[in-house]
Amino acid sequence: MGVMAVASLTLNRLINACSPLRSSEFSTPCNLMLVKKNIPITALQQQSVTDADLGISRDKCLKGVKALVDEGIKKIPDAYVLPVHHRPCHSEIFFDSLPLIDMTDAQGERRPQFIEAIADACEKWGFFQVINHGVSPSMIQRMVDAAKEFFNLPLEEKMAYASDDVAKTRRTGATRVGTSFNPSKETTLQWRDHLRHPCTPCPDVIDNWPDNPTCYRQAALDYSVAIKQLAEQLLAGLSESLGLYDGSLIEKFYQHDQQLAVNYYPPCPNPDLAVGLCSHSDPGGITILFQDDVGGLQVLHEDRWIAVQPSADCLIINVGDQMEILTNGRYKSVEHRAVLNSERPRMSIISSYNPSRHTKISPIKHLVDEHHHPALYREISYADYLQYFYSKSLDGKSCIHYVKNNS
Ligand code: OGA
Ligand code: NI
Repeated sequence: MGVMAVASLTLNRLINACSPLRSSEFSTPCNLMLVKKNIPITALQQQSVTDADLGISRDKCLKGVKALVDEGIKKIPDAYVLPVHHRPCHSEIFFDSLPLIDMTDAQGERRPQFIEAIADACEKWGFFQVINHGVSPSMIQRMVDAAKEFFNLPLEEKMAYASDDVAKTRRTGATRVGTSFNPSKETTLQWRDHLRHPCTPCPDVIDNWPDNPTCYRQAALDYSVAIKQLAEQLLAGLSESLGLYDGSLIEKFYQHDQQLAVNYYPPCPNPDLAVGLCSHSDPGGITILFQDDVGGLQVLHEDRWIAVQPSADCLIINVGDQMEILTNGRYKSVEHRAVLNSERPRMSIISSYNPSRHTKISPIKHLVDEHHHPALYREISYADYLQYFYSKSLDGKSCIHYVKNNS
């Protein structure tokens, strides 16, 4: 059977398996790419690549994947080749839509519906999308353009921000450029470069942000201020949805820590063998994600990987581990990952809105009752949680087990 025949069989299976589905969801090249990734037995997956072929050392890989691609590599080095059972293409990819919430409903007479919709999304998905979120298209575009220009700088200039200390930004407030997630702890590297810096305390931290390209600081400032407003609206909604009118959730974020990370995933010559970012949950409070039109974000929902379709108007919101702990597991952080393609570079902009590092996190009293809802997690400071998060490789939801009671 030819590849196209297999692909269309797979497509039919997906169409039957997922409802409701919009036929337009299958019309873009990006979707076809993802459908192709679902083909279980292909020559592509059986490829093997050896460093011997390429003569590329792991040290060289640590200068980032963009540098490898810019040199014109045609196959990925061994360091990126995942064991067969960890390759994303071995899971079936489904096309479903995340719950969609209109932020204009947060004010006015539709507020009850808004509150109910975020509660439902956080309980069932841990993820949702928002429209009319107040971060204007031009603000997003300026952020994307500035970040793109940053990644296009000469390698030496970007490497000035590199550090082996993966927790550096969180600990010291410095800007950091990195690749993969935590290379010294990883058996297999991930096909991702990234830039990270805090946005709080503002404006003090701005001096640590990249000043080249010259538009970067203003773009990141405007973007992060708009994101903060959205995060506060969401937090107020989450608080109300949990019936926490005493401010017990919101007070955990009074002295918040807001971070901005840009992920850059260059085209990957063997997208079926590697991953951009492997399955994980986010360690913080809430995450607000923008993905460009290339697509590659997947969310684990009811044991199936769902490909999140890019949409220029939407921001994607997800519950982080601290929110799971605070809500005593009512709102769960959910595993997600980024997959690759061989055609186009992809960028995502991640804003996390978190408690400050010294904040002690434990299930909020109103959400605990000894008989029906005993506290599922022990108390931990956000700083200690992050230290644990950065001491390991990314591994699904393994971090939160560290603070589970009776585990
Ligand atoms: C992250 C993340 C997904 C993406 O950086 O935490 O989940 O699509 N990124 O880049
Ligand atoms: Ni994430």
